[in-house]
Amino acid sequence: MEKIERTIIVDLLKRTDYGQKVNVKGWVRTRRGNKNVNFIALNDGSTINNVQIVVDVAKFSDETLKPITTGASLSVNGTLVQSMGKGQTVEIQADEILVYGTADVETYPLQKKGHTLEYLREIAHLRLRTNTFGAVFRVRHNMAMAIHTYFHERGYFYFHTPLITGSDCEGAGQMFQVTTKNLYNLKKDDAGKIDYSDDFFGKSVSLTVSGQLEGELAATSLGKIYTFGPTFRAENSNTPRHLAEFWMIEPEVAFNELEDNMTLAQDFIQYCVRWALEKCTDDIEFLAKMYDNDLIERLKFVVDNDFKRLTYTEGIEILKEAIKNGHKFEFPVDWGTDLQSEHERYLVEEYFKRPVILIDYPKEIKSFYMKQNDDGKTVRAMDVLFPKIGEIIGGSEREENYDKLAERAKAMGVPDKDIWWYLDTRRFGTVPHSGFGLGFERLMLFVTGMQNIRDVIPFPRTPNNCEF
Ligand code: 4AD
Ligand code: MG
Repeated sequence: MEKIERTIIVDLLKRTDYGQKVNVKGWVRTRRGNKNVNFIALNDGSTINNVQIVVDVAKFSDETLKPITTGASLSVNGTLVQSMGKGQTVEIQADEILVYGTADVETYPLQKKGHTLEYLREIAHLRLRTNTFGAVFRVRHNMAMAIHTYFHERGYFYFHTPLITGSDCEGAGQMFQVTTKNLYNLKKDDAGKIDYSDDFFGKSVSLTVSGQLEGELAATSLGKIYTFGPTFRAENSNTPRHLAEFWMIEPEVAFNELEDNMTLAQDFIQYCVRWALEKCTDDIEFLAKMYDNDLIERLKFVVDNDFKRLTYTEGIEILKEAIKNGHKFEFPVDWGTDLQSEHERYLVEEYFKRPVILIDYPKEIKSFYMKQNDDGKTVRAMDVLFPKIGEIIGGSEREENYDKLAERAKAMGVPDKDIWWYLDTRRFGTVPHSGFGLGFERLMLFVTGMQNIRDVIPFPRTPNNCEF
């Protein structure tokens, strides 16, 4: 085969230098035609769009053409020509075709179109080759780039926090343990407790649920930082919005108060959504057409409108009023209890009809590090609630007073020996500061319109599921 430099399809489709010899490589989506001419739709992952390869059957042997079936991988040399057919502007008149690998018609699982998303989850190693997952993961890449660009351009430093940790940031006891001990032969002390002194780290450690505590160390020295990495939660909830391994973005800013934190959260999300609308147009339009007709309208709405800010207490009053007026919720609404997803979605989708930021939650249902309000009952927490998703961001202003913080940690059962280094930030040059965590896959759900969080991360980890 003649050596011609490869053009990726996303670039090729923009070219107008008709008559040039070109090479493309990719996977066959479909092949159709008659005994004189064949049309191969070839995709290389660079775009949702295929390039059409026009094959003059007389120029090729049966041996070459027979293995060109859905899923086969090809290299094609040919001439770039203007397309007469509709749906594309350019196509390739094939001169030479090399088949790298065949895909057996009987056994290739993506032979037929229209598989369910549930079935595709079982073949997550191959689902990347479908239009849907190509689109989702190009958008995912773009969202990662948007996030880094947003913070970098505003003077934030990307800070790497550890994945293996000895502290439980959220204090919710949802941590996966990390050990090299022989689980069949555990050394225990006289009280029957496991002795970790001979374990790898000489103590009990786990996978992190959040990089926040270490992020605060960085913010109170570098000023403005963000983390962007995997986090792990052993929460046994099989919902369309929870993963055991998910990615979180956590900005942390010295001298920011809760108001600044809310402004940052809104501006940051709007920036990411705008990026998706502007830079992922083909993929978003495809996903909208396939799964969610209102997607683009919803994205534009979020970009153009302020998020509604109100207190938890005001939110509870609205929910109680709704119940009085006959609205039925599955879970009860009482001041002091955490809001369920149905409550959050009522506020966002039915009452305010826009994203909502709820602040000043009861201290009992929030983490030990949140700044206490003067009322003695609430803390400077903020949750950003989104249509269809519920909570997309959780954050707060942090308690900067050493005594108050130490007292809350103790009351909530967070041992001093685990967080003495964290408390030190309040002993030496303490400052007001705030931050939040955005669940990356929750953002992905919103931007793609997909319904299940398992469909926006390449290889989901959920209870009883760790394949691939
Ligand atoms: O509200 P969370 O638990 O807050 C924290 O971890 C703080 N330390 C963040 C901070 O202030 N720096 O989690 C933050 C976000 C949630 O709003 C949600 O979007 C996402 O992380 N999240 C999950 N996403 C997928 N699967 C799970 N199991 C998730 N748990 C939380
Ligand atoms: Mg939360």
